[in-house]
Amino acid sequence: MDRKFAGTYESNLFSEKEIEYEINRLEQSFNIEKEILKKNMNLLDFTGCKTALDVGCGTGAAVRLLAGINGQGTIVGVDRENKYLDYARKKIQDLNIENVSFLNCDCYNMPFEDNHFDICFSRLLFQHLVNPEAAIRELIRVTKPKGKIAICEIDKGLNCFYPEPRHLRKYYDAEVRYRRFVKGDIYFGRKIYTLFAKNGIKDIKVVNSSLDVCNCKRKDLIDMVENWKQENSDNHPLVRTKLIKLEELNEYYADLTNILADEDSYISFGNYFVVGTVEK
Ligand SMILES: C[S@@+](CC[C@H](N)C(=O)[O-])C[C@H]1O[C@@H](n2cnc3c(N)ncnc32)[C@H](O)[C@@H]1O
Repeated sequence: MDRKFAGTYESNLFSEKEIEYEINRLEQSFNIEKEILKKNMNLLDFTGCKTALDVGCGTGAAVRLLAGINGQGTIVGVDRENKYLDYARKKIQDLNIENVSFLNCDCYNMPFEDNHFDICFSRLLFQHLVNPEAAIRELIRVTKPKGKIAICEIDKGLNCFYPEPRHLRKYYDAEVRYRRFVKGDIYFGRKIYTLFAKNGIKDIKVVNSSLDVCNCKRKDLIDMVENWKQENSDNHPLVRTKLIKLEELNEYYADLTNILADEDSYISFGNYFVVGTVEK
């Protein structure tokens, strides 16, 4: 792998235990967002869609959703990590879903002919990429003229916590510095419009698809934070790199959980869903 394309999300950076944790985290985060995603998928017209792609599919959660939506067509999930693909394949087998296949490849260089897919989708991949421009050009290459591309990404600038948990600013400052160091971007969501526009994608629609206490269950959001806490050991990257103290991180999560449990508080986790049409 050419290091300039390596990105921040490499499973060889995770131990076996951390991979297991990560699979659970990804599945949980998808399940919380599933209904919002389903609604946003209406912006993609699946009428006559023969084949759709999910790039950086991870555990295959979105592939399973797309397989239901596009029952008449096929879905391909690609990822460069076999550990996730093994999990994704097993799930699909267990559920007896037949219109799906998975492939190990890099998003910068996919083994598909030009103009192959009607719809291309990606969630939580682009924030990790060192070269999102090269990745979007590859996505455009494999999408048919008039086909659709949709990207769903976090933007932590949209996060909103009222009242504010202790150490929130310190936590974000630490995360921004860490992500800058490993070349990721927690503010990627707002950049998707420009990425699309600069690369000739037309008819762009941007939906603020943040998860908040109105469109999600508080209990689910609390469980999500509780799950983050489990990762919360001396080995946490922000603690390991001394960007935040373990006690501060623990206090931040504990406060956030308490605030979420208070029915009067407002919490929102920022997310954008952006869709556009490929013109060639
Ligand atoms: C945060 S996970 C998101 C997984 C999934 N899309 C989801 O929504 O749960 C990012 C995924 O992108 C994959 N990935 C990272 N860089 C990649 C690349 N250059 N090519 C293909 N997949 C990549 C990782 O292996 C991982 O499965």
